[in-house]
Formats: sequence, structure tokens, C-alpha cells
Amino acid sequence: MKKSLDRRERVLDLLYQNQDRYLSGEELSNKLGVSRTSIWKYINYLREAGYQIESSSKVGYQLITPADNLLPEEIKRNLDTEIIGREIIYYKEVDSTNNVAKKLAQSGVKEGTIVIAEEQKSGKGRLGREFCSPLGGIWVSCILRPDIKPTLATRATYIASLAIVKTISKLSAVDAKIKWPNDLLVGDKKVSGILTEMGAELDRVDYLVVGMGINLNFPIEIFDESLHNKVTTIYTETGKKISRVEFVQDLLEELEMSYKKLNNFQDILEEWKSYSYTLGRTVKLDNNKEEIIGEAFDIAEDGALLVKVDNEIRRFYSGEVSLYHQGFSSGN
Ligand code: BTN
Repeated sequence: MKKSLDRRERVLDLLYQNQDRYLSGEELSNKLGVSRTSIWKYINYLREAGYQIESSSKVGYQLITPADNLLPEEIKRNLDTEIIGREIIYYKEVDSTNNVAKKLAQSGVKEGTIVIAEEQKSGKGRLGREFCSPLGGIWVSCILRPDIKPTLATRATYIASLAIVKTISKLSAVDAKIKWPNDLLVGDKKVSGILTEMGAELDRVDYLVVGMGINLNFPIEIFDESLHNKVTTIYTETGKKISRVEFVQDLLEELEMSYKKLNNFQDILEEWKSYSYTLGRTVKLDNNKEEIIGEAFDIAEDGALLVKVDNEIRRFYSGEVSLYHQGFSSGN
């Protein structure tokens, strides 16, 4: 279902629909009810953003090659959502989309607003780590305001990891898996991470910022060599680039579908489990207080990882998990 497009989206839409001919400035200005100068300014903005648009004073404008960037009007053109991504804040470069999204959430913006950037200069990972976020990846944060108790906020990380893994498997030939609680792996290497941050009162969530980072269209060589055995990118795995606009659209649509089922969490969990890297494995879990070794065998309805340690069942809500093999423990 297509929602009403604002003027920028409509200009872009018309350019796309008429790629086989020139559209005159007059035709555009009549169709959209704006001046020809406004049209000309917007065309220049698109050119600066990397679009190749031919123009001639006599015949008008023709879109030759779109740019591979994440302009809000590009994402919204074919976005089939009701809540998520209806408002898009875009940066070419930003410190961290999560930081911007948290400020916006605190100032009261609408649920579903997303903050997206081509590049992050101080991308944030979990536990205060840096998250490398170069050009060509997807760095996006989504503001949600679910009517749930703060103790259930981890559900947002589950729906985000599910949305990412489904989008990767839809748009690439890569078989990604979810490593509890918030990483996505291809083979044993990390391809994506999620950072969920929360603003809450004791018994009520005010906002969640779900930050998702996906190593998409750039080569592994961007990362320091010391990370090459731990991290990968979809491009490195397949040798192919994926439309980032399409990736974001599918990701937001998947996220919204799962978000609407947040109160039927069992359904989400069943699907999540089918992509799990962690379940059924012997793991070493470090939750800052202790290190335990056991078999990760299930996820409880409240999001806890259930681990059998000797004959006891232990529940974990956070922690660093790595696979455990007798004698050593791998990076994953
Ligand atoms: C992790 O792997 O530790 C979590 C990484 C989360 C990265 C994303 S990229 C978009 C959003 N903005 C940030 O600064 N971090 C998240």
C-alpha cells in the first residue's frame, strides 16, 4: 500500500517513471504545484547526492542513473509499512545513529521514526565497544514505544535479529544465523550487530532505540587485518552488491511485521529459533559476574537463554557467548 508521497518523493517518482523521456520543468511544476525554481533546486540536490540527471533548457530533465544512497525519499518510495520508517532522518555522516535517535526519542518524536546514515564516525557497539561503520553498510536506528514492561525490552533485539536474518536470506545467497543475544554470523564470522537502548520508568517503557548495523556492500579489507578471522561482509561472502535501498525497505517491513506480533512472542521465538546459531551447542557464557559452561538448549518466553549446567537449568538475560570445545573456547 502506497502512502501519500511528499513533494520530493513525487518528483523522484516522476523521474523514475519517465526514465525513457525528458520531463519538462513546466510539466513537473504543474503536476506538483511548485515553482520551476523549486524543481530546479531539487534536481541540483539530487545531482549533488550522486544522481545522474540529464537536463536541457528546452526539453527538461531525464534520470539516467540513480545514486546508490539512502535518501529518505528513495527509501519511502516503495516502502510498505504503517509505522516504521514513515519518518526518516538521514545523515551522510554522523557520530552514531543511536545517539541521535535517543535524543529524538527523548524529545518525543513519533514511534517508528528511523535515523539512518551512510557512515558513522563513532558507531557504538555493546558494552561500550566501538562499531566500525564505513560507507556501503547499513547503519540504522529505529525508535519504538511498545506498551511493555522494561523487563521485556529484550524482545526488541529478538525481532531485530529476526528481521535482519530474514532480509539477508531474502536478498543474498548467504546462510546467516543469529548468535544470542544480538549478533548475526555467516559461518563463524560476524556480519551484523544490534544495540538496543532504552528509556524507561520502573514499570513502563518510554522508548527503545534499536540500532542495527549490517556489513553489506564493502570488502573485508576495510577492517583491520586482526579482525579478518572474526568479521565478514555480505559482499566478501558473495562477491555481489545488493541494493541498499531495497535492503532497508525489506528490513523495515520485516521489523514492522514482527513488531506487530510483539505480544505473541512465542510465534516470534519459534521463527527465531529456526535461525539460531547458539541453541543446541555447548557454550561458554560470561555475564561479567561469572563464567559458566553448559548446553544452551532453549529460549524462555521472557527472552532468557536457558543453559543446562551440570544438572541445573540456568537463565541468562545478557552476556558474552562463545562456543566451547573441550580444551579451548572459540571466538564465537
Ligand atoms: C554490537 O555488535 O555490539 C552492536 C552494534 C550495533 C551497531 C549499530 S549501527 C546503527 C546503530 N548506531 C550505533 O552507534 N550502533 C548501532
